[in-house]
Amino acid sequence: MKKTLLALAVMATGAALPAAAQDAGQINVICSVQAEWCNLMQTVYSRTTGVKVNMSLKGSGEALAQLIAEKANPKTDLWFGGTGDPHLQAAEQDLTLEYKSASLPQLHAWAQQQAAQSKFRTVGIYSGPLGFGYNPELLAKKKLPLPKTWNDLLKPEYKGEIQVANPASSGTAYTMVATLVQLMGEDKAFDYMKKLHRNISQYTRSGTAPIKAVARGETSVSISFVHDGPGEKMQGFPVETITPSDGTGAEIGSMSLIKGARNLEAAKKFYEWSLTASAQEMGAAAKQFQLPSNKSAKVDPRVPDFKKIKFIDYDYAKYGSSAERRRLIGKWEKDVNSLPR
Ligand code: G6P
Repeated sequence: MKKTLLALAVMATGAALPAAAQDAGQINVICSVQAEWCNLMQTVYSRTTGVKVNMSLKGSGEALAQLIAEKANPKTDLWFGGTGDPHLQAAEQDLTLEYKSASLPQLHAWAQQQAAQSKFRTVGIYSGPLGFGYNPELLAKKKLPLPKTWNDLLKPEYKGEIQVANPASSGTAYTMVATLVQLMGEDKAFDYMKKLHRNISQYTRSGTAPIKAVARGETSVSISFVHDGPGEKMQGFPVETITPSDGTGAEIGSMSLIKGARNLEAAKKFYEWSLTASAQEMGAAAKQFQLPSNKSAKVDPRVPDFKKIKFIDYDYAKYGSSAERRRLIGKWEKDVNSLPR
């Protein structure tokens, strides 16, 4: 299976496999999408260019924490994927490098806007809506209703049935906090999260852990990016997704070059490659169904249909600012996570 995927992806890049691995240097990449996509990119890029790609897998919040920790002596060259808010925070904290790709006009407006808002220190590579994952078999067995709105999740019958990640480590969960604040206003959103807390069985480290738990029948409902559902379903698990009818937010998954990168020229080439349509199509080849930012990339039918979803007008600049992100996460820790369940 892996071989077939690799062959397809190599064909898609239009590049020939080098006869023998050349010593073409290396790059150190933090990858914040799921492992299968990171691994596929690593293998295809290494085999087609001879460049050694050292991948380290980290959630969006954890990736930012690592970049802050290594600021004086960066070990990372490029940060691929993960939600856009921490990429914007990294830009503001001068952790990432200004770089204007010639490919920007080939990207959707939202991806270009992400670049412009960061003064060209990051760029959008994909987008995806926040919603709920649920296990229809478990819901039926436990006679639980299908949650359709944010308020539905507060129903007492969901006690211990819902998982979401921790916003300090996970960009998915931070997107939820920022979405609720924008949808309800801050006071109401925090009241809401305190009530929701009673129904949460676990705050996971990674943003995708909750929907994996739903798929495996460990919990009934998750708050997740809905594009993370189809990949689990393709593995034969009973999992469906829905977006709340009262409105939701979306991420702009992003990519940034690190300031002080030791392998900058090689990292720029990987960056350019990551913006091409064929490289972006590798997401779907690795069973991940975000909307690619390159307008020419094929859109898999399993990618959520944005036209059918009610979106809030997400203020990426405000909620990606250091002060706001830090403040909201701190408030969540103090006012929500510290409460007994
Ligand atoms: C998954 C999603 C990505 C998202 C990422 C965030 O990989 O498919 O679209 O950007 O999670 O991860 P995190 O662990 O930071 O929530």
